[in-house]
Amino acid sequence: MKTCYGNLFSAISTLFVASIIVMLMISGCFRSFTSFSGSTLQYSGSIEVIQLNRNITISDRVQTIHSVRSSLSFQLNRTVTRKFAKVIRREDEHEQGLARARASIRRAASGLNLSSIADSHHKSDIDSTAIYHNARAFYRSYLEMEKRFKVYVYSEGELPIVHDGPCKDIYTIEGRFIHEIEHGARRFKTNSPHNAHVYFMPFSVTWMVKYLYKPLTYNLTPLRQFVSDYVRVVSSKYPFWNRTQGADHFMLACHDWGPHASQGNPDLYSKSIRVLCNANTSEGFNPQKDVSLPEIHLYGGEVSPKLLSPPPAAADSPRLHLAFFAGGIHGPIRPLLLQHWKDSDPELLVHEYLPKDLDYYSLMLQSKFCLCPSGHEVASPRIVEAIYAECVPVILSQNYVLPFSDVLRWEAFSIRVDVSEIPRLKEVLTAVSEEKYRRLKEGLRAVRKHFVLNQPSKPFDVFHMILHSVWLRRINLRRQ
Ligand SMILES: *[C@@H]1O[C@H](CO)[C@@H](O)[C@H](O)[C@H]1NC(C)=O
Ligand SMILES: *[C@@H]1O[C@H](CO)[C@@H](O)[C@H](O)[C@H]1NC(C)=O
Ligand SMILES: *[C@@H]1O[C@H](CO)[C@@H](O)[C@H](O)[C@H]1NC(C)=O
Ligand SMILES: *[C@@H]1O[C@H](CO)[C@@H](O)[C@H](O)[C@H]1NC(C)=O
Ligand SMILES: *[C@@H]1O[C@H](CO)[C@@H](O)[C@H](O)[C@H]1NC(C)=O
Repeated sequence: MKTCYGNLFSAISTLFVASIIVMLMISGCFRSFTSFSGSTLQYSGSIEVIQLNRNITISDRVQTIHSVRSSLSFQLNRTVTRKFAKVIRREDEHEQGLARARASIRRAASGLNLSSIADSHHKSDIDSTAIYHNARAFYRSYLEMEKRFKVYVYSEGELPIVHDGPCKDIYTIEGRFIHEIEHGARRFKTNSPHNAHVYFMPFSVTWMVKYLYKPLTYNLTPLRQFVSDYVRVVSSKYPFWNRTQGADHFMLACHDWGPHASQGNPDLYSKSIRVLCNANTSEGFNPQKDVSLPEIHLYGGEVSPKLLSPPPAAADSPRLHLAFFAGGIHGPIRPLLLQHWKDSDPELLVHEYLPKDLDYYSLMLQSKFCLCPSGHEVASPRIVEAIYAECVPVILSQNYVLPFSDVLRWEAFSIRVDVSEIPRLKEVLTAVSEEKYRRLKEGLRAVRKHFVLNQPSKPFDVFHMILHSVWLRRINLRRQ
């Protein structure tokens, strides 16, 4: 059925384009032709909801289509025209819906619609506004997403690599997201691809590595090949990929090699929305269109019971240690950290591997600051664990775009220390005033819900934040 629709659609488009050419040759209307044939979706300016300073206009293309359509209906086979017109009308409605969402977010951002938070049924979720760049814009955008956003998940591809992913260990977010979008999240999923704003390709890079990669060869060609084949299948079977060269399509990968796998198709790499843990701007991560995905480590499929519920208020349990880190020496930054601080200062607990008698999560809960240096890749599961433990994350990374940073003010609940400052780390941390530390802890308590994995997902949790990041990139994409 889908195949039929795809073929019918492309047959119709060919007919449609051919008839426009005929019509234009008659009318000599070349200006409209140019703007129609250039109909691609393009990113417009900055991604931040918060800085919505773009002009909101329904594009020329839609207007062109309206006029072309009305003149065409008298020249073409009526059945075909009507069917095609229906598809186009739906696309127009979509674009108009998104334009309304943008306008409404803009009004909220500029504070013109003061009722937008007060009337919201999520009012209790907005108790702390300090953690957002613009809380009003975020909540309006979130509500617009709940109201409108539709995702189509391609059914192509087979287990184990497609429609599944790891649900334990470090790359767990791949599996959890794929499961939630395929089997939960009814509000956002559509079975009718013509009704979708975005198209999801549910393959798992971690499973590609497990099933296709030959250990120790460092040959990533099979991963790229898989991705390339997948795009070829969906782009020949459906009209959607070609319509935008993949700009309204997204993939998600937490494995370090996610960016490499995405090179399997050049349009996927440079135009699609890539949701990646390895959000390294030196490796092609583009925050305008790509989404930084938090890494969440679930041993045996669960968050450690020690971190499951928020720790008691600070007064009850004073934090014994200034800062804490334990982990292997890999990647470019950790050697510096360990060289300077390993087992050398009683207040700054920096271990390579933790002695057996010490417990990792208990130490996080007992420390004021948790050091989160990048390892083999920029992301680290420590960041989310530190948030759960209300241990202020100290971000030690380069070229890392932090998750949800288009919405969240990371400086309200974490500290960023430049790698060159590692030798002065203790000085930097002791210089944080009591007052500032108290505010950081408040920020951590408020931001926690955005990093929690629920099954099934709940409003404002990490699943919804990922989806919101994709939504933001989609509404920043406009027909031109
Ligand atoms: C937006 O509109 C204003 C006023 O109409 C104009 O000056 C500006 O150039 C426009 N900006 C863009 C990006 O089109
Ligand atoms: C219009 O085109 C459709 C599909 O090609 C065809 O089935 C139908 O018979 C045509 N109708 C007329 C009136 O020519
Ligand atoms: C203002 O916010 C309210 C409550 O969220 C919403 O129902 C209304 O549509 C908004 N008005 C405008 C003009 O955006
Ligand atoms: C999309 O474009 C590719 C390459 O040009 C082509 O092979 C494919 O058939 C097109 N898909 C559709 C549905 O027309
Ligand atoms: C980020 O990418 C650059 C360029 O490939 C690389 O040198 C650097 O090590 C990467 N960072 C991490 C933490 O992997």
